[in-house]
Amino acid sequence: MAPASIAVRLFGVFAALLLPEFAFCMTRNYTFNIVQHNVTRLCHTKSIVSVNGRFPGPRIVARDGDQLLVKVVNHVSNNITIHWHGIRQLRSGWADGPAYVTQCPIQTNQTYTYNFTITGQRGTLFWHAHISWMRATVHGPIIILPKRNESYPFRKPYKEVPIIFGEWWNADPEAIINQALQTGGGPNVSDAYTINGFPGPLYNCSSKDTFKLKVKPGKTYMLRLINAAMNDELFFSIANHTVTIVEADAVYVKPFQTDVVMITPGQTTNVLLNAKPYYPSATFLVAARPYFTGQGTFDNSTVVGILEYDQPLNHTSNTKKMVFKPTLPPINATTLVANFTGKFRSLNNPNLTTSVPQTADRIFYFTMGLGSSPCPKNTTCQGPNGTKFAASVNNVSFALPNTALLQAHVTKKSNGVYTTDFPINPPNPFNYTGTPPNNTLASIATRLVELPFNTSVELVLQDTSILGAENHPLHLHGFNFFVVGQGFGNYNAKQDRANFNLMDPVERNTIGVPAGGWVAIRFLADNPGVWLMHCHFDVHTSWGLRMAWIVMDGPLPSQKLPPPPSDLPKC
Ligand code: C2O
Repeated sequence: MAPASIAVRLFGVFAALLLPEFAFCMTRNYTFNIVQHNVTRLCHTKSIVSVNGRFPGPRIVARDGDQLLVKVVNHVSNNITIHWHGIRQLRSGWADGPAYVTQCPIQTNQTYTYNFTITGQRGTLFWHAHISWMRATVHGPIIILPKRNESYPFRKPYKEVPIIFGEWWNADPEAIINQALQTGGGPNVSDAYTINGFPGPLYNCSSKDTFKLKVKPGKTYMLRLINAAMNDELFFSIANHTVTIVEADAVYVKPFQTDVVMITPGQTTNVLLNAKPYYPSATFLVAARPYFTGQGTFDNSTVVGILEYDQPLNHTSNTKKMVFKPTLPPINATTLVANFTGKFRSLNNPNLTTSVPQTADRIFYFTMGLGSSPCPKNTTCQGPNGTKFAASVNNVSFALPNTALLQAHVTKKSNGVYTTDFPINPPNPFNYTGTPPNNTLASIATRLVELPFNTSVELVLQDTSILGAENHPLHLHGFNFFVVGQGFGNYNAKQDRANFNLMDPVERNTIGVPAGGWVAIRFLADNPGVWLMHCHFDVHTSWGLRMAWIVMDGPLPSQKLPPPPSDLPKC
């Protein structure tokens, strides 16, 4: 954990004495050195790119209201950017991080300081590289504590433990995605899943690399779950223990109990775990494995960790300990997932949540899913029917420019970089969840939607069955949205809108669009900037399942995006 500098701490103390209205906020400084270091897993040693030589990377710890200054110094040959996934970035769009969207990458030997303030958020988020597949090894937790004078809306846990799920490749993930984009075929799948970097005993040559959670009887633990895996949604369960979900994507939710958690890449969830009131003479396994609905190959393996009760020194048990294993749902348990996601509801406390837009100024209907793009002349491609794999939103496979969209927008130099004619409805309607059309070619373009400041947006995301219906974890930068409805089959505005939940919908930044179904979200476009929206499966993002919103400045000075910082990287 990189501590805030002493000077900053002292300043924080002075601020507390002198300025009562800012008494609880401070500036926290971190330095992220991007380096190469050797890691061994599954008997394979390889050099990975990491932050400060740590895998997973260091924790950022801050309170709601704090300002963060994270100085990123790139010592490796790869370009890098860091995204603060789920941070609202109110009027700090320059610090959001997606390469070629809000910034040019930080090149070798260059430095950029991300400067942003956490406003009205508390819980767990995470940071990760946002260029190519660098986030496979470049990611870590963001822990946001409530303001100093605020408490949790539940009993204070005895201890808090971040649990990061990741994916491990014996090969270099950059080589894997670059090769896949060349051939047009599907990329190789990972060799293991990890919990806090450890694959656990079910993999070859891995039993010493097992995550262990030690607990004391009768205590409550808060597990800060983060899915930082690249391409896989995960079921997670602890043998003989239920957990209580209390927060999702750094927003409190109405607590509910569950034996199994489904968490998509890009989602974070805090759960409370009550340790048993006695010393059980047993070991409990914790495990995660994929929820998979697609058609291709996937990493069908299981990561296992261990939950153990801390035995006092004088407590000796001669009996051999039992080992309990959790039961995880079938790989494609779509109904179970729909029931689980339907249980998330906002706390509905006017002090804690922003309000759900009761009406919508603009209504959008976006299909999302796979497709194909033509194979270049005189080459052979390994995608569907000799084409290349593509993925799209409303049939547009989004191409990143070689300059940054946000700069092009504020300098009014969009010509040749992007257009603002992104289709608001599917261009060629078909039975989205039925038999796919013959032509599944996506168009490749950089088209955006422009929204006036404070537009209330309703967006229905519709999965398609082209090359297989699939649950897509959709992530929106710069905003939380409210999940007002979801269902299977094709969305029907007349029937389905009447059933929207405008009372206590969950507020999040990433939601699974159900396999063969749809989800409806609403958000208020109150944050000027350019905001990426994409599938948080990196393979789908790489294939173009992404688009971006431009939110214009409002009339008041407090509604405008400030000018770019002087150290903003150049392309
Ligand atoms: Cu966590 Cu654009 O992503």
